[in-house]
Formats: sequence, structure tokens, C-alpha cells
Amino acid sequence: MTQNIFESELMERHIFRNLEVLSPHYVPQELPHREEEIREITRTIAPVLRNENPGNMFIYGKTGTGKTCVVQYVIRKLREFVENPEKNTSNVPVKVVYMNCKVRNSKYQVLLKILEDESLNEESLRDVPLRDGPKNQLRDQLRGMDPADLYDRLFNVIQNNGINLIVILDEIDMITKGLNDLMYILTRINDELTRGHVSIIGISNDMRVKKRLDPRSRSTLCEEEKVFPHYNAIQLKAILKQRISMGFKKNTVDNSIVSRIAAFAAQDGDARYALRLLKKAGELAENSNSERVTMDHVESAKKAVEEDIMAEAISTLPEHQQIVMYSIAALASQGGMYKRLSGIGTGDLFTGEVYEVYENNCRALNRNPRTMRQFSQYLSELEMLGLITTSISGKGIRGTTRLIRLGYPPEEIKVIVKRSLGIDQ
Ligand SMILES: Nc1ncnc2c1ncn2[C@@H]1O[C@H](COP(=O)(O)OP(=O)(O)OP(=O)(O)O)[C@@H](O)[C@H]1O
Ligand SMILES: [Mg+2]
Repeated sequence: MTQNIFESELMERHIFRNLEVLSPHYVPQELPHREEEIREITRTIAPVLRNENPGNMFIYGKTGTGKTCVVQYVIRKLREFVENPEKNTSNVPVKVVYMNCKVRNSKYQVLLKILEDESLNEESLRDVPLRDGPKNQLRDQLRGMDPADLYDRLFNVIQNNGINLIVILDEIDMITKGLNDLMYILTRINDELTRGHVSIIGISNDMRVKKRLDPRSRSTLCEEEKVFPHYNAIQLKAILKQRISMGFKKNTVDNSIVSRIAAFAAQDGDARYALRLLKKAGELAENSNSERVTMDHVESAKKAVEEDIMAEAISTLPEHQQIVMYSIAALASQGGMYKRLSGIGTGDLFTGEVYEVYENNCRALNRNPRTMRQFSQYLSELEMLGLITTSISGKGIRGTTRLIRLGYPPEEIKVIVKRSLGIDQ
């Protein structure tokens, strides 16, 4: 008799024990090799518990160095402490609002999120005159307010309740509108409050955000700074082993496999990449009914994860940059319009020829092509994301020019952009 599809899906797994601990959002009970970072952030925040004003803090580190999970970990510990009446004898109202600024990317959105957040709901509701109280009405009312009203409300909620508020702005570089304004507002609140306090922890993997702050905002936010270093291979092994012991069945992942994954991820010191590789390799082993994870699974996982990362990077690009990527890929797959000149690698394209193709593609898509200057800026941004590399040619027939080389197979890129921009042909 054939199996029901759910029956086979639920059949016992060979490899995984608990997939939840391999999710990117899972924060373990312990974070190996981040003891010092945890201690310093705790030390910065701790004064709130004595009803003293904690400082602001800027946390910087490359992607996957554990910034988000360390901060989440400290918030969890703080909440545990605050909610335990035996420990928190001072009874200071401490509230923490965490947000990711990819979603909350303007001054207005940030203020709204603070007031909407569950941790301030109770206090906020006390102040908002609601006829009959479901929470979504609070949301609707807040959303009808302008920034000045939001500011007044926030001030009143904090002042009336004497709240010590910690606002965590993760990926603060994603705030595109009103970053300096936001810093002013949050510091002005402190100047005007006679009870309660607001402190800010900004997190970013992009140092350039500091340059966007004017000197006053910068000295406010960067009162204290913490840089998260890269993880080395040994540290990544410890992080991997912790998840393996929780998420995998016994003896399914050998030490040599852990070393291989750690070595791959150590190139960028990125724990997220390490954990992604581990999970993917586990899935490949599981799907092939293997009893354990093999080197082949790791190799295939690496390829699959890199393709996924590239696809995510491309499909989240702004439209014109996607058209630029498409133009580069289209030209690369044809080998370029001009015959390759001696001394120039076969994969290299001239900026000028790519720009022409980009202009044509924009017209075909009914978009206005951006200027050459803007186009050059796009190239720099694509290079930063690792999607292309550029180099300057030596003086040749066409003078000095920037040469462009694609970091991934052109056919795959074309498929991804077509899907992402909804082009069918
Ligand atoms: N010391 C650690 N112990 C256990 N897991 C860790 C540790 N550091 C990072 N991780 C895990 O690695 C992944 C990436 O970490 P995290 O999201 O904190 O990186 P990040 O520094 O915030 O990166 P990004 O700048 O891209 O946001 C997460 O799944 C996290 O749980
Ligand atoms: Mg993060």
C-alpha cells in the first residue's frame, strides 16, 4: 500500500533532533565567545536598575558577528530581572523597545513603534482616551497623529510613569529619513523630562552610518562604542557544536565536518553563514536518507547557500540596480559587444558598453535611465555587496575605464532579476 504523503513526511528523522534551534531567530541560553560583549552591554544598561541614567551606545561589527543575538540575550536577562520581584527590589519601571530599522526606517516610524510597542502599551493606553479599548484602536489612533503629537505623547507617557526606557535601533543604518532629527528628539526628551529617561542603543554593520550623523548626534549615540570582532575558525566551531548538540541526533556530524564548515565561514568570520551551511548540509543528509552528514553534503550545501545568498541580495536591490545587474549579466553571457582587447580578461566588460545596454533595458521597461554618474554609484554599491568586481583598465584604445566583472554565473542572475522584476520572456 502506498504511503500517505503526510505519513512519509512525519517518518522518523535520521539527522535532526530539533530544528527550532537552527532557526536564525533562535537565541541560545549561552553565547560562546561573547562573554565580554555581554558584560559590557550589561554594564552600560545596568544603571537603570538603580534609577540612574544609562548611557547611549553604538554597537558595530561585520555581519554575523552576533550583535543582534547578544543584544537580544541581554534584553532577555534584563526582562527576567525586572519581572522578578525578589531581585528587582527597587521597582523602577524599566521598559525595553527593540526594533529593526529595516522595517522602521524613518523618524516617524521609530516614534510610532516605541508608542505601539507592547512594553509601553499599558502606560500608553492609560494616556490615550479610548472609548472602548481594544489595542488595535490604540494603533489606529497613533497612526493618525503627526510627529509632533507623537513626541508629546511619548514625553507624557514617560514623564507620567517615570519610565526608564531603552530603545534599541538594530540596523540603524537603514533609517533613511530623519536620523539626525530622531537623535535630537530623543535627547531633547531627556532635557525636558523631570522623571524617567530614554537611552538608545544603535546597532549597525555599516560604519558609514556614523558619517551620516552630525557631530552632536554622533557624540550622543556614540557615547560608548563596542566593536564586535570577527569569529575565527575555533570560535565558530564552538558555536556550531553548541547547535549540533541541541539540534542534531547523536553521532550524525563528525568533528571533521564541523571543522570544514567552520573553515569556510571563518573567511568572513560570519556565524550566520556557518549555521546556514550546517542546517543546509543537515537537510541534504536528511533528504538523501543518509545516516550522517558527509563532506559531499557540505560541499553541495555551500553551493546552494551561496546561490540563495546571491538571489536574496539581488532581489532586494532597488529596481535600477537590478536592471544594471541584468544588463551586466546579459552582456557577459554574450561575451560583450566589442571584441575583447588584448590584455583585458575575457570576463571583463567596459563601463560604457554596460551603460548602453542599461539605457536600452530601461527604455524597454518604460523606465527613465539614470545618469552615468548615478550608474557609477550603482556599480560601487553592487561591488560592496560582492555581486561584481571592478578594476581600472590600463591606458588603451578607449582611455582609462572601469572594467566590470560579474561575481556569479550570468544565466542564473538573469533568471533571478527576471523573476524579481516580473519580466516574462
Ligand atoms: N556567540 C554566539 N553563540 C551562538 N550563536 C551565535 C553567536 N554569535 C552569533 N550566533 C548566531 O549566528 C547568527 C548570526 O548572528 P546575529 O544575527 O546576531 O549577527 P549580526 O551581528 O546581528 O549580523 P548582521 O549585521 O548581519 O545583522 C544568529 O543565528 C546567531 O544566533
Ligand atoms: Mg543583526
